[in-house]
Amino acid sequence: MNDLKNLLENNRAWAEAIKTNNPEFFQTLARQQSPTYLWIGCSDSRVPATQLVGLLPGEMFVHRNVANVVAHTDFNCLSVMQFAVDVLKVSHIIVCGHYGCGGVQAAMQNLKLGLIDNWLRHVQDVMRSHETSLSQIKGEAERLNKLCELNVIEQVLNVSRTTIVQSAWNRGQELAVHGCIYSLEDGLLRALGLSITGPDELLETYEEAVKVSVRG
Ligand code: CO
Repeated sequence: MNDLKNLLENNRAWAEAIKTNNPEFFQTLARQQSPTYLWIGCSDSRVPATQLVGLLPGEMFVHRNVANVVAHTDFNCLSVMQFAVDVLKVSHIIVCGHYGCGGVQAAMQNLKLGLIDNWLRHVQDVMRSHETSLSQIKGEAERLNKLCELNVIEQVLNVSRTTIVQSAWNRGQELAVHGCIYSLEDGLLRALGLSITGPDELLETYEEAVKVSVRG
């Protein structure tokens, strides 16, 4: 437990700082949560979801996994989405990737790391779907960054195609799905030019986003 001493001390200071601003903060939040956003991001320790968008506890529901993958058979991710959309009624789902993603890199280089290789097959599928455009990029770092962007775009499509999002749209619930990418080098989040608010926009927006991505 000694190893956690710092963390526990930090936590006390953090809770105190929040209570100084708003003495009722935790009691109010303990009664209910009504976040506006669902964040689906990478587990990478350098991409701290709530922190990098300056939100407080209670404002964003979060799911993270290696390389921010949304697989149609992943009941963990699907359950998070279903709860967020049907019960919490979030208005926005943000898929956020990041440049220099270790998971995307391992997929690209076909590294043998163990069990995770199976998970990263999903990213290799993205790579295979965009083989032609990726092969035209000379530098390996640029190719990796492009794959990081394309991976986000594909996951936005996957989110939008789930029964959860499709049903929400069909019953007229307001829900937008967005793709963003974060840069470890400057701490900035960039929109990838795809925000989908209904089934009609899906393919057109996707194709547009694939053509134009932030780093070209
Ligand atoms: Co990552």
